[in-house]
Parts: sequence; structure tokens; C-alpha cells
Amino acid sequence: MANDLFSPVTLGAIHLKNRMVMAPLTRNRSGEHGVPQAINVTYYEQRASAGLIITEATPISLMAHGYPALPGIYTDAQIAGWKKITDAVHAKGGKIVIQLWHVGRISHPSLLPNGALPVAPSAIKPAGQAFTYQGLQDYVAPRALEASELPAIVADYAHATKAALAAGFDGVEVHAANGYLLDQFLRDGSNQRIDNYGGSFENRSRLLLEVTKAVIAVAGADKVGVRLSPVNPFNDMKDSNPQALFNYVAKALRPLDLAYLHVVEGGIHGGGEADPFDFVTLRKLYQGAYIANLSYDKARGNAAIASGHADAIAYGVPFIANPDLVARFKADAPLNVPDVTSFYGGSEKGYTDYPFLTA
Ligand code: PHB
Repeated sequence: MANDLFSPVTLGAIHLKNRMVMAPLTRNRSGEHGVPQAINVTYYEQRASAGLIITEATPISLMAHGYPALPGIYTDAQIAGWKKITDAVHAKGGKIVIQLWHVGRISHPSLLPNGALPVAPSAIKPAGQAFTYQGLQDYVAPRALEASELPAIVADYAHATKAALAAGFDGVEVHAANGYLLDQFLRDGSNQRIDNYGGSFENRSRLLLEVTKAVIAVAGADKVGVRLSPVNPFNDMKDSNPQALFNYVAKALRPLDLAYLHVVEGGIHGGGEADPFDFVTLRKLYQGAYIANLSYDKARGNAAIASGHADAIAYGVPFIANPDLVARFKADAPLNVPDVTSFYGGSEKGYTDYPFLTA
């Protein structure tokens, strides 16, 4: 039988019982000091029938934060909190990797230690407003990082990877998508540097490759994924030649033998269609295991797997509203309707109270 969403697959060292991946989803419901709490355990445990859960984007350091109530993966208390989640998911036969995050310029001094300015490749203020504990506030012009500061950020990714392994994760995903720090280095709308980290594709990819290699040195390549979003305009992102840039990035990542490459094939909060982009070519250039994401349903997911375009499909919003999405797809059962107003922040409502199918 041809492979479909319900067939198993092995991505690097990670064996998935099916090819339905829960996409990373920011939910802003962590406890104090970025420590995951009981409702977070329930939420992930409810979704353990996914072939793989990719956690919400998780800051690797205090300077990596950019929204309220995010979990972290850099303190012992955070490790202990996450361990309860990985244990619960594993007890249900699931797999879970953590997405490692540095937001770069998509932050605000009120969210950073001692009111620090957000950091970025270049001092270019993004259009838009930050979500802060005091409500929406205009983004500020970030401080351009000195090249001499980058090794410490690379070290923070390695430290977070050690913490993730201690917390029992099956692997880590390097978040290089959606307009956050590593993506800010990749795309020239946010990177105007004139040193070794700006200009050419090679230079703009340098930090991503340094980070990915540092994470691999800790976890092993077969437990590391990377997420890219070549045309996502979210967070005021643009690039003058996304196809050439991301073809280059895919080819540069190929020899690293990652567990997978995870690609957002459009704009997460809309947009992105304006930029024609050939994801089939990107995937062919990359050659390794590929997780496709964005607006897939069951039919398109199965078609992408059957054609060889993708090895697995990541579903975001459908997993928010349907903890048992795999069972619903199998049964062609109707899906719960997502409540957009409870996506970001709050408590159980819209988080752990979506109903399961009843027999
Ligand atoms: C969001 O909060 O909307 C968000 C966070 C992380 C992402 C994408 C979107 O990678």
C-alpha cells in the first residue's frame, strides 16, 4: 500500500507512528519564570496521538523572549516542568521535540532583562506592535548585534539543547522561520550587515549554520530539525530573492544529515501568496526528510506524501481544536471549530477543553 498520513515513518532517530505532526503553536499559558505547569501537561498529553509533537516556540535565554507567558528551556525549574510533559506524552506512546526560539527584534524592552533593547542583525524597526504585559506597544528599533556577541547566542542554543535532552525530549527543532532572530539574519529586509553575517547568501546563512552545528554537536544530527518559512511576510519580513536564498539554505543544510527540514509553505497569518515560490524544487534540492506545513487538510496531506513531496505533514490550528485529530482524520469525522479568541493566553478555555470524539 502506498504511504499515507497514517503510515509510520522514521525521521533521523525519531520514529513516528503516523505522519501527522502537531505544528509548533504559541499559546502563552506557561507558569511563572517560564516553567511549564499542569495545564500544559494536560494539553500536550491530550495530543499524544500525533506522530510527533513539536512544542510551542520556546525561548533559549532571557534575551530570547518576546511575548508574555512563554515557557523557557534554560533553567533547572523549566527542565523539571518540561519533564512532566515529555513523560506524559511518552506514556501515551507519543514523540515530542522542542522548538528552540530566539525572537530577535520581535520583542520589547518591557519583556527583556533590565529593560534591554531587543537585538537583531541590523537596527531596523519592524512595523507593528509587540504583545506585552501592558498591552500592545509599538516595536522599537532593535540594537544591531556585534559579531563578537554571536558566539554567546550560539552557546545559548547549545545550552538549551542540553536542557532539552535533560527534560526528556526526543529531539529539538531550530526555529529559523517566521521573522524571528535566525530568519532576520537570513532575509535581506532585516539584515543589512556589511560583515561576515550580511550580504551574500553564505553570509546571511552563517548564523543559522553555526547554531545548527552547535545544536548537532550536543544532540546528534538525527535528533535535530530546522524550520524555515521562505515567503512568510509575518513580522514585517521580506527578501529580494527568496527562491535563490532558500534554495541555497536547503543545499547548505543537506550535508548536515538532519532528522528533518520543516517548511512553512506560505504566510502563517495570511500573505505570502504574493511571492511565487517553488517548494517542490526546494524539497528536491534538500533531498532529506521533509515536513510540509500550512493549510493542509487530509486530502492534500495524503497527496503530498503519495507524491513524495513530503514525508510528514504538520497541522497547526486543526490540532488546537482537535486533540484527537488523527482519529478524526481516520474516521473522516467532523472537526471542532477553533476559537480564535483563546489562541493566545488564558487558561483551560480553548486550550484543554476541546471535546474528543465519542465512540
Ligand atoms: C505568534 O505568536 O503568532 C507566533 C509565534 C511564533 C511563530 C509564529 C507565530 O513562529
